[in-house]
Amino acid sequence: MTLPKRYLITSALPYANGLKHVGHLAGAYIPADIYARYLRAQKREVVFVCGSDEHGTAIPIQATKEGTTPRAIIDKYHEAMRQDFEDLGMSFDIYHRTSDPLHHETAQEFFTYLNDRNELEVKETEQYYDEEANSFLADRYIKGTCPNCGSDRAFGDQCETCGRTLSPDELINPVSTLSGKTPVKRKTSHWYLPLGKHENFLRKWILEQHRDDWRPTVVGQCKSWIEGGLQSRAVTRDLDWGIKVPLPEGAGKVLYVWFDAPIGYISATRQWALDHKKDWKPYWYEKDTKLVHFIGKDNIVFHCIIFPLMLKLHGNILPENVPANEFLNLEGDKMSTSRNWKLDMRDYINDFVKTENGGTQCVDMLRYYLTQIAPETKDSEFMWKGFQDAVNSELVSIFGNFINRTWVLMHKLCGGKVPRLHEEILNETDKALITDIQLAKIKIEGLLEEYKFREALFEVIDLSRKGNQYLQKNEPWILAKKISPNRPGEEVSAADLPAQEAAQKRIDNTMHLCLQLSANLAILVNPFLPFTARKMMHMMKVVDKMLDWENAGNIKLLSVGYSLREPQLLFRKIEDSETEAQIEKLKSGLKKMEEPKNPAPQAGGEEIKKETPAKPGIQFDDFAKIDLKVGTIVAAEKVEKADKLLKLSVDLGTETRTIVSGIALHFQPEEIVGRQVTVVTNLAPRKMRGIESNGMILMAEDKAGKLHFIQPGTAIDPGSSVS
Ligand code: MF3
Ligand code: ZN
Repeated sequence: MTLPKRYLITSALPYANGLKHVGHLAGAYIPADIYARYLRAQKREVVFVCGSDEHGTAIPIQATKEGTTPRAIIDKYHEAMRQDFEDLGMSFDIYHRTSDPLHHETAQEFFTYLNDRNELEVKETEQYYDEEANSFLADRYIKGTCPNCGSDRAFGDQCETCGRTLSPDELINPVSTLSGKTPVKRKTSHWYLPLGKHENFLRKWILEQHRDDWRPTVVGQCKSWIEGGLQSRAVTRDLDWGIKVPLPEGAGKVLYVWFDAPIGYISATRQWALDHKKDWKPYWYEKDTKLVHFIGKDNIVFHCIIFPLMLKLHGNILPENVPANEFLNLEGDKMSTSRNWKLDMRDYINDFVKTENGGTQCVDMLRYYLTQIAPETKDSEFMWKGFQDAVNSELVSIFGNFINRTWVLMHKLCGGKVPRLHEEILNETDKALITDIQLAKIKIEGLLEEYKFREALFEVIDLSRKGNQYLQKNEPWILAKKISPNRPGEEVSAADLPAQEAAQKRIDNTMHLCLQLSANLAILVNPFLPFTARKMMHMMKVVDKMLDWENAGNIKLLSVGYSLREPQLLFRKIEDSETEAQIEKLKSGLKKMEEPKNPAPQAGGEEIKKETPAKPGIQFDDFAKIDLKVGTIVAAEKVEKADKLLKLSVDLGTETRTIVSGIALHFQPEEIVGRQVTVVTNLAPRKMRGIESNGMILMAEDKAGKLHFIQPGTAIDPGSSVS
C-alpha cells in the first residue's frame, strides 16, 4: 500500500452556544490531536482543522436566554472555546468559524453546484408553524415527547436523552419553544438531498468497502440507517439565522446547519491555505489525500452518510475513516449540560492548570486520563478517583518515577553525563530492554495507525514500567557500593580493581540504556503528552528534531559524554482533598438545577420555612458569580391556572426581561407596576406554565410571613448593578 501524500484531519466543529466539557474533549479532539501530532512526527504532510459551528438554532435560542444577540453569543463562545482548546494543547493548524464570509461563500457555492446539477429535489410540504410567534418551527424551536424513549424533552432534530435523530413530525405532543403553544401546520417549500437515490453507493462504500476498517460501532449505526430506509433530507430551513439560500426563490430561507457546518472543514482548509500561501484544492480533490473525521457518536450519520454523499456529488474525495467515539459518563451518570452534570474544560483549566502547582503538567494529566478511558468501543466513565489513580499510580509512580530515578542516578553515579555503552559485556537483560524499545515503537505505531489510542498509550506506559523493572534488576546503587565502599579514607586494594571495573561498566551500561530509553519515551509519549515530552527534551538538552518518529527504536539518541540537566518533576500527585472537592462541586451544581423543579420555589410559596437555617460559608468567587441588578417592574399579570405566579416584565436598562415570580398571593399585579426590585439576572432560564422565566426577583420575608421587595432607598436607573 502506498502512503497517502497528505493528510487532512478534522475534529467536529463545536456549537458556539456554550462551553464544552471533557466528554467532548475525549470524543473528538484529543484523539485527533494525538493522531495529528503523530503524523507530524512522521514528517507527513498534515493539516488539522477545526472551528466553531455558529448556525444552529441553539444559538439564537441561547441569545434569547442570555438576553443578547446571536452575534454576541457566537463571538463570546467562539473565543472561549478557541482559548480552552489552546490551553489544553490542541494543535489545530486552524481554528476557523462558520460565520466567516469565506465560509458563507464556500457553502453557498456548494449548494449552487448541487442545485445546478439537479442533485437536490424541491418539495412542498406541511411543517409546524407557531401562529403567535409568526414563525416556522425547525429543529430546536419545537419540543415534544420522544417516540423512541418517551422523554418529554426531545427536540425537533434530536432527543438529547436517547440520542436519536428526529424530525419534528415524529414528536408526540409537539409544542413551540417560542410561545409554549401547540403549533399548526403550514405549507412551505424546501430543498432536499435525496439519500434514497444513492442507496447503492452508500451500501457499497460503507457496508462493503469499509466493513472491516471502520469501527464496528460506526458501521453498525450506518447499517441500521441504511436498512431503516434512506429518506430525502431537507437541507434548507425557514429561519433568519444561518447562511442565506443563494437563490431568489429561497428568500427568507437559510441552509440547514448540518448542511453548512461540515462544509466548514473545507472553508477552514481554504483559510489555512490563504494564510500559508498554499493550495487547498489537493486536500479536497486529490485521491492521494487521506481525510479522517474525528467525531462523537451522535455525529455519525452526518459524517458517514450525509456529508460523504454531498462530497461525492460535489466531486470531492471521501473520508478514509471516521473514528467516532462513544460517550463519556461522569461519576456514574450521563454528562449533561442541561442538568449541569459535567466537567467543563474551562473548569478543569481553572481548578488545575491555572493554579500555583498546576501548569502544563496538569494538561497532560487530563490528556492522559481521557485517553486511558477513551470510549473507543463502548461508553466509558470519568471518575475523579480514577483520575487520581491514573495520575498517582501510573504517571507519577511509573513513568515519572522512571525518568526521575534515571536522572538522579545518572547525576550521582555518572557525573551528570551520558556514560559509555560497553558492548562487549551486554547481557541478556540489556538485550531484552533494547528489543522492548524497538518492539514498542512498532506496536505503538501500528495501534496509532488503527486509531487505537488507548492501547497505544498503554504500550508507552508499559515501556516505562519495563524501564523500572530493568533498573530494579540491575540495582546500579548497589553496584556503586562496590566501587566506593562506605568507609571513607580506606584504600582500595589492587585485587579488587577488576571487580570494581566490572561494576563500573555495569553501571555505565545500565544508565546508558536507561537514558536512551528515556529519549525513546519522550518520542513515543509526545503525541499523547506533548508538554511532558517538551520537559524531557529540556532535561536532555536536545532540539525538537529528536522527537521525529523515525528516531524511535534507536538506542543511540544521546551521545556519550553529553551532559544533561538536573531532573525536573514531570507530574505531581493528586490529593484526596482535590478529588473530594470536585465531587462536591459536581453534586452541588446538580442540586442547583434540580431544586427549582417544584413550581414556585422562589419567595412566597409555602416552601419557605419559618426558620431558615444558616447556609454553609462560600468563597467570594461564589458570590461574585451572581449578577445582581436593579430593575423596574413595567408590567405584571397573573399566570393562568397558577394561583401563586405572576408574570413580570422587568426593565433592566438595556433590555426588558420576562420573569415569573411566585408572589401572586402577596401582591396584586397593578400595585407593583413601577416598583424597583433587585434581580438575579444570570440565573439559568426555566419554564413555568409554558412561560420562560429569565431571572429571579429577591424578596425579604418578615416574621409574619409577609414579603417585601429589596429595593434601593431612592429610585435609580434600571440596570444599576448591585454588589
Ligand atoms: N456542532 C456539531 C455538534 O456539536 C458538530 C458539527 S460537525 C460538522 O454536534 F461537521 F458539522 F462541522
Ligand atoms: Zn429519546
